[in-house]
Amino acid sequence: MGARNANDRRRKNKARRVLTAMTSLLALCMLVEAARGQDTIAAGREFAHLACSACHVVDRDQKSRPLLTQKTPSFEEIANKPGTTATSLRLFLATTSWDGKTLPITMPNLMLTTEQAKRVINYLLSLRKRHQKTSGFATSR
Ligand code: HEC
Repeated sequence: MGARNANDRRRKNKARRVLTAMTSLLALCMLVEAARGQDTIAAGREFAHLACSACHVVDRDQKSRPLLTQKTPSFEEIANKPGTTATSLRLFLATTSWDGKTLPITMPNLMLTTEQAKRVINYLLSLRKRHQKTSGFATSR
């Protein structure tokens, strides 16, 4: 009788330890995932400074004005348009194509890799204001 109780207790303790280990592992995975998300935003921001800032204001802290004098939407404006989604951006970047002649110029196709597009889109969407992020209804601040 006593031996069976001890066995039971041991089994329960083991189950508890396994559960604790699994919970810690899950928490760790979530942390890594969150850090990776931050990483792609930072990488996207860096990439935007290189690849997009000649024509767009990509960042409030951007040191120099875009070389393109014709007005283009800033990344903040793009991010906060009601119709902007990850999909709309991916589609736009993949299909836009200025012919190299017509003025005013439109967005040329920069032939981004999937990874570059993903990062720059993550960065762009990170510029959305909070009320845009959480609901479909725009509310005044
Ligand atoms: C050579 C100049 C140039 C560069 C470089 C450039 N863009 Fe553009 N972009 C434009 C112009 C001009 C427009 C506005 C006309 C249009 O929509 O085609 C535009 C429009 C856009 C739009 C659509 C905005 C809207 O109103 O919905 C997005 C999104 C965009 N650019 C993203 C980017 C990203 C991301 C990069 C860098 C990877 C980039 N652009 C680099 C010139 C440029």
